[in-house]
Amino acid sequence: MLRILDLKNMKENHEKITMVTAYDYPSAKQAEQAGIDMILVGDSLGMVVLGYESTVEVKIEDMIHHGKAVKRGAPNTFIAVDMPFMSYHISLEESLRNAKKIFQETNAQSLKVEGASGDILIFIERLTEAGIPVIAHLGLTPQSVNVLGGFKVQGKDKTTAKKLLDDAKKVADHGAAALVLECVPTELAKMVTNSINIPTIGIGAGVNCDGQVLVYHDILKYGVDRLPKFVKPYTDFNDSGTEALEAYISDVKQENFPSDDHSFFMKNKDALPERE
Ligand code: KIV
Ligand code: NA
Repeated sequence: MLRILDLKNMKENHEKITMVTAYDYPSAKQAEQAGIDMILVGDSLGMVVLGYESTVEVKIEDMIHHGKAVKRGAPNTFIAVDMPFMSYHISLEESLRNAKKIFQETNAQSLKVEGASGDILIFIERLTEAGIPVIAHLGLTPQSVNVLGGFKVQGKDKTTAKKLLDDAKKVADHGAAALVLECVPTELAKMVTNSINIPTIGIGAGVNCDGQVLVYHDILKYGVDRLPKFVKPYTDFNDSGTEALEAYISDVKQENFPSDDHSFFMKNKDALPERE
């Protein structure tokens, strides 16, 4: 299993870090078998597998329930778990308590939090001091989508670009182990990556980040209809999965399934009871 130090070494050696989200046992198992470096139990869980409207509806219990399943599926892979909406904003004490609960119950390697406000920076520092590695998340931070005013690229002008660069330095200075950059112009993501000594993991942030992360269901095109520009689907499970189910339905209707190959038979026909 990768450790935080390995991530830093990968950055120094220009070896790309791969990350994918997973939300359950089979997706985690598949990601580990494929050889992914890190798994994120993202709060995208809410939309992708629970059918919520947004990440705002995701609860601590959801993250723990799914985080545990991911851990069972990928026991040898570095796992980060998202702290969900408002679970680290009410007070430092409550934030630390929630972090302890999620970290201990999921047995993950790291927690991820969005933003770089003063309170978040202190929180990152306290968690790191306590022994919980933190992955920061800047740029488009979906938990703040209602404040940001939509899913838009962040840091496109001089003021916001400077703010993002400053925030990246701050989370690194406060002990963050890695930084997810979401929907950031390629040039800015490159500058951030070259300005801090922790790995950047991009999603919609260009090729110069130290690593890349995508949502499992986006890569497989599974249950998602519209894909954002930054996603490259590597297969189409919407189509192949539906075709498989249609073939199954048709086979059952026409008695093509189960065939003898998929059925059990008695060795001794005399063993059948007499008909009444
Ligand atoms: O929840 C999530 O899937 C994420 C990634 C997109 C980084 O935070
Ligand atoms: Na997330």
